[in-house]
Amino acid sequence: MIEVSADPARRVAELLAEAARAGGQIALTGGSAPRPAYELAAELEPDWSEAHVWWGDERCVPPDDERSNYRLAEESLLSRLAERPVEHRILGELAPAVAADTYDAELEGVRLDLVLLGMGPDGHVASLFPGSPGLEERLRRAIAATPALEPFVERVSMTLPVLTGAAHVVFMVVGAAKAETVARAFEDEPSAETPASLVRGLRTTVVLDVAAASRLRSSP
Ligand code: 6PG
Repeated sequence: MIEVSADPARRVAELLAEAARAGGQIALTGGSAPRPAYELAAELEPDWSEAHVWWGDERCVPPDDERSNYRLAEESLLSRLAERPVEHRILGELAPAVAADTYDAELEGVRLDLVLLGMGPDGHVASLFPGSPGLEERLRRAIAATPALEPFVERVSMTLPVLTGAAHVVFMVVGAAKAETVARAFEDEPSAETPASLVRGLRTTVVLDVAAASRLRSSP
């Protein structure tokens, strides 16, 4: 399940390209780590016409705002494709509760094939923050959430039932600053203090660079 890679972006790009080729339901993440993976995925597979693309979370800003997770995907992946997928954008320009309700309804009956997640330095995934009430949600598929970290704009996030219902959850985590949290998330007992520890799919792949893996006690 844990893979340490000299080139995490390539590994993740290959998984994304494969899922796109297979016509999968794919959820993307925000954050800084995925940009090179998105760029490479567009090169590896320029035809995403059979795939559906979702977002694990979104900041409540318009889609062209520089904090928008949609904008990140648009710039680094979607605009570079020859054939775009069906896109299920979270409507960040709306009030958070309205955007969450809309996304919740859109997700009804959907089973995700691949969910790509980053992890914050505090162990958050999507916009599910340590100890936050959103972690308790068992019925809704999407919720409004208040961030514990920058950028301090309201969020909309997929919930644990959707994330853990995915066929394949792929974490991409890089950098020494995340090494301690990586050990907590993937070696310790599951805990609401480290939301990433609560997310496992039918299959789970954790793609790390050497620095992010440096505090693991057992060698992967
Ligand atoms: C978001 C992301 C978030 C992200 C982590 C890691 O909207 O902020 O979806 O969950 O994946 O914060 O971010 P970095 O890759 O920037 O460390």
